[in-house]
Amino acid sequence: MDTVPELGDALPLVPSDPAWLAAALGDLDSVHADHLHCERKAAQSALSLIRSYPERADLVAAMARLAHDETRHVVQVAGLLARRGQPASYDHGDDYAAALRAHIRVREPDRLLDRLLVFATIEGRSAERLALLAGALDDARTRDLYEGLATAEVRHRDTFLALARDAAPRTWRDRAAELAAIEAQILAGRVVTARIH
Ligand SMILES: [Fe+2]
Ligand SMILES: [Fe+2]
Repeated sequence: MDTVPELGDALPLVPSDPAWLAAALGDLDSVHADHLHCERKAAQSALSLIRSYPERADLVAAMARLAHDETRHVVQVAGLLARRGQPASYDHGDDYAAALRAHIRVREPDRLLDRLLVFATIEGRSAERLALLAGALDDARTRDLYEGLATAEVRHRDTFLALARDAAPRTWRDRAAELAAIEAQILAGRVVTARIH
């Protein structure tokens, strides 16, 4: 029997540099502090799509659920910080996401497709790194949290990919492959730091 291609196959992200996990494990406080803002921004991104495309009922329903998931993740990561006795910090910005967003085309309908695929990329990268952390953490409770979050972010990646497929059935795969290659270049040009991205 033929295997059915998974949605995620359309977005072939390169594996993270092993130096990233070493840097992250060397400064978990910074990783967790940054992670809180990643989850917050994920919720805001989902809500921003509802603001931009209220006429798309499927998108509105999917993004409302996704924002709900992400705000729950904010609660979970805030709980982790509290358990560690660590205050949250200000957001130091995310030049990784900014570099990806710079590739979002301005005119519709390209803009919608690119926004969906950039968010899919960020979810896919987050999922990979949260899973790497889950595989390396000693504390069982934190490990369980990260395993659960990694699974959720894979689901979110696929939510964005399904919306991209529906929005641009003929072009979404080629554009997803382009953005995956762009993301690899962005990562290659970055200094590895103890942050999620
Ligand atoms: Fe999340
Ligand atoms: Fe997510």
